[in-house]
Amino acid sequence: MNPEEWSGIGHAFSAISDARRVTVFPRLWKHLQQSAPARLLDYGGGDGLFALEALRWGGQTAVVYDPAPAMLELARRNAAAERRMQVVESTCQLKEGEFDVVVMNAVWMCLATEEQCVEVLSEIRRLLKPGGEFLASVTHPCFRDRRFATYQTDFPMGRYLEDGASFGVTMSDGEREVRFNDTHWSLSAMTRQMQRAGLQLAGLEELPDMTAGGGEGSPWLLLFGRRGKPF
Ligand SMILES: C[S@@+](CC[C@H](N)C(=O)[O-])C[C@H]1O[C@@H](n2cnc3c(N)ncnc32)[C@H](O)[C@@H]1O
Repeated sequence: MNPEEWSGIGHAFSAISDARRVTVFPRLWKHLQQSAPARLLDYGGGDGLFALEALRWGGQTAVVYDPAPAMLELARRNAAAERRMQVVESTCQLKEGEFDVVVMNAVWMCLATEEQCVEVLSEIRRLLKPGGEFLASVTHPCFRDRRFATYQTDFPMGRYLEDGASFGVTMSDGEREVRFNDTHWSLSAMTRQMQRAGLQLAGLEELPDMTAGGGEGSPWLLLFGRRGKPF
């Protein structure tokens, strides 16, 4: 979905207490606590709550970039009392090599084409310091047919190798529900896109669901990368 469409569902998306908030986000905050970045960018940072909390875990300053006006409005409101956080609607004015860490949570599936993915990842590489760290979380492409605690899709796994395929997502927390479309990128596609953009893959981590026993498979995949040389 494009940023205008995200603006349409931004408030509804932000209001959902989805499993990421107790699995993905704390895992990344803990990681950031160890690296204590002087400057962090949350790319496609939505309502800004991830970055706001990252500052409490050891980050010194944070910038949230999002292209959707409704998300920017939410992020600005949430960050109003935090002077160490800035919210921007474009990355053009951000300097090359300005960031120790760039985080990209649940954004990869919003990007509709291979070229758009490489463009976004290349911009992230530009903004990272040499050796700077890239942290991404994506819905795990290998388990799109499972029903997880707060997330399910209509993606048939027979289409796994169809990179760029669109699929429907339903997110719910028992009280609220939001539906939107995402784009499927296989593991091969994501690693190839990182390599094309000059981001070196340093590790993968597959998180359990928040249900007792962790559920079936893994709803969320973390990709850890570093600024490298473009392919
Ligand atoms: C699923 S939301 C995730 C928001 C936030 N990162 C979070 O984890 O709560 C996806 C976000 O990506 C943003 N987005 C969509 N297309 C984008 C693009 N081309 N570049 C950067 N962000 C984009 C949307 O505006 C939206 O805020």
